[in-house]
Amino acid sequence: MTGAVTRADRLPQPQKAAPTARSSGLPYDSTADKMRPMIPILQTPLGAAYQEDCVKFLRSVESETVDLAFADPPFNLGKKYTSGIDDSLIGEEYVAWCKEWLDEMVRTLKPGGSLFLWNLPKWNLPLGAHLGQQLTFRHWISVDIKYSLPIQGRLYPSHYALLYFVKGKKPAIFHPDRIPTPCCRHCGGEQRDYGGYKDKMNPKGVNLSDVWTDIPPVRHAKYKKRDANALALKLMDRIITMASDEGSLVLDPFGGSGTTFVAAELNGRRWIGSELDCSTIVERFDSLQGDREHLADIHRNKNVLFTRTDLERRRKNGKPLPAAYQVEQDIVDCTCDPNDNQPSLAFG
Ligand SMILES: C[S@@+](CC[C@H](N)C(=O)[O-])C[C@H]1O[C@@H](n2cnc3c(N)ncnc32)[C@H](O)[C@@H]1O
Repeated sequence: MTGAVTRADRLPQPQKAAPTARSSGLPYDSTADKMRPMIPILQTPLGAAYQEDCVKFLRSVESETVDLAFADPPFNLGKKYTSGIDDSLIGEEYVAWCKEWLDEMVRTLKPGGSLFLWNLPKWNLPLGAHLGQQLTFRHWISVDIKYSLPIQGRLYPSHYALLYFVKGKKPAIFHPDRIPTPCCRHCGGEQRDYGGYKDKMNPKGVNLSDVWTDIPPVRHAKYKKRDANALALKLMDRIITMASDEGSLVLDPFGGSGTTFVAAELNGRRWIGSELDCSTIVERFDSLQGDREHLADIHRNKNVLFTRTDLERRRKNGKPLPAAYQVEQDIVDCTCDPNDNQPSLAFG
């Protein structure tokens, strides 16, 4: 465990809140003594995780204190969670429950704050309509990850819906990453034809669109916290760096394995969140070294036009780029079989 991290059992007993704490957005147990702070199960200099029901936790967060709220709830697919929740509600019940915590999330958002909701398109359709009555719709981002087997008579489900809303007319914070141009995984050659514009390419990469095809499924045993359905650190890094600044407050009521909290912590954001079973989060924060290295790698490969791996592939193919990415005649167009560049199947 890193020196600065504490667990609740090492924290002092509940006490009167410091006057400054109330304006920091940190949770108070509204069902008990109004002045008694909820006790986090995990605390760092930047954040706190609460082993609580999401609605109870959210009700205790002060209004208009959060810069970025993110939620990745259970999808009502009948999955088994270590927290033992019922993940097979009647559809109307599930939507009603989601609206309950979404309304609380909206309340906690500052004007100009951003809300992201990760779910299956089936659920984000009604939930997006509900959010649209209170917030301004920004984007329906399709994140290309296969999550089930093909179903007879249906199209193959291949994307998650990431809804992006903002409180008020426009976001207070918005600086999306630029991403590397997609390259052939064999020769490193560009997969897109930029025609005569290669010399005008931004060396910091291409504009982020609302279709994300570069988010890897979390499969590696080193990173995958299977019980908690962990999201990719790259996804959470992208959302957090787009819609918050250092010192901003990030909130996630469904902590799972703590990916949001880790991405916030390592990017210097303050964070708060809940989870019914925080054991994986506490364990993960025991040593953040692996996540730190992973995040450093993610940061090295964004806001650049070519990843290091692709540059190396190009060099091996006898066509290295100039050091300053002077993108001119040096681009190697890809002539490999496009089917060989399809991401492999993943279930998550
Ligand atoms: C899909 S997972 C979140 C995974 C997380 N985004 C990550 O990257 O690790 C949903 C989580 O919500 C938790 N959960 C379910 N119902 C909850 C509730 N009522 N309050 C708090 N957490 C809840 C589950 O225990 C589960 O870990």
